[in-house]
Amino acid sequence: MDDRIVTGEELEEDTTELSLRPSNLNEYIGQSEVKENLDIFIKAAKIREESLDHVLLYGPPGLGKTTLASIIAHELGSNIKTSSGPAIEKSGDLAAVLSTLEKGDVLFIDEIHRIPRVIEEMLYSAMEDFSLDIVVGNEGSSRSIKIDLPHFTLVGATTRAGDLTGPMRDRFGIVSKLQYYTIEELKDIVKRTSKVLECPIEDDAALELATRSRGTPRIANRLFKRIRDYALVLGSGHIDLAITKIALDKLKVDSLGLDDTDYNLLKAIIEKFNGGPVGIEALASSIGEEQTTIEDVYEPYLLQTGLLKRTTRGRMVTDKAYDHLRIPRKDTLF
Ligand SMILES: Nc1ncnc2c1ncn2[C@@H]1O[C@H](COP(=O)(O)OP(=O)(O)O)[C@@H](O)[C@H]1O
Ligand SMILES: [Mg+2]
Repeated sequence: MDDRIVTGEELEEDTTELSLRPSNLNEYIGQSEVKENLDIFIKAAKIREESLDHVLLYGPPGLGKTTLASIIAHELGSNIKTSSGPAIEKSGDLAAVLSTLEKGDVLFIDEIHRIPRVIEEMLYSAMEDFSLDIVVGNEGSSRSIKIDLPHFTLVGATTRAGDLTGPMRDRFGIVSKLQYYTIEELKDIVKRTSKVLECPIEDDAALELATRSRGTPRIANRLFKRIRDYALVLGSGHIDLAITKIALDKLKVDSLGLDDTDYNLLKAIIEKFNGGPVGIEALASSIGEEQTTIEDVYEPYLLQTGLLKRTTRGRMVTDKAYDHLRIPRKDTLF
């Protein structure tokens, strides 16, 4: 996809992700509401000796959906089997995944919104009745057979909950939305990363890094590793505030975590559409981007920080955006 250093999407360079992944709920920082609920539901399922209800996790990339899926399995004391929407193209693909499940297993399906609609329907009966209807034989003499499945827990993850059909969403007993992390939470994540990677970081440096990480652990960890390089080559290996600022400036990540892509988008609205409101289609074509990329990747953080606002007539930049970009507001009154 894109190779912005501040993208929440997974990049090839995110190689230490596995070792940085917390393995139980206690180590999982932030998302307190989601965590508290899951903790109760997991404990209840264990007391009842039943499988946990199906769980849908949604929210922007890099906020910890995959991590949470493994934690759920770990806390249940179960095995996790992993697949993804794009990997399930034919009904046989789904049948193959389901046939590997054992009682109590967690089946994690990433990007679940990308499962084809026909296969989605097969998944309904698997989720609801723990049975699988498959058609065997060829045309004319085909018949459907029912296969019983062990009770399992489906954990689905998606960045686009709106793309799931109603019936699909309804089959998840637990639906949790992951939120952007606060600066304090990100600071704790940075501190944890520093311990795991055995690379010390000063408190004020951790705070600076947290402030510029767009509410996203994956970005915080990625920037941490880059800053570590600067500290090693230009400094003593120890991460302090000065080296953090130098590194982030060199990486073109500004005080709010914005990069050129964000500036282009905000500037386009200001310069070409007088600050908005502008429809998403017009905006997309003016900066030469896909509408969905703007909606899924660029826009969420700008909305979150209050630089951008969504109105019924389209997107508008806010006063905060004018101030942050140091662009004087045209006086619209006179
Ligand atoms: N709550 C958290 N506490 C600590 N680290 C986290 C947390 N959430 C995510 N991370 C870190 O961020 C990385 C990306 O998380 P991931 O679960 O892959 O995100 P997603 O699946 O939502 O894109 C993980 O490898 C992990 O190191
Ligand atoms: Mg993921």
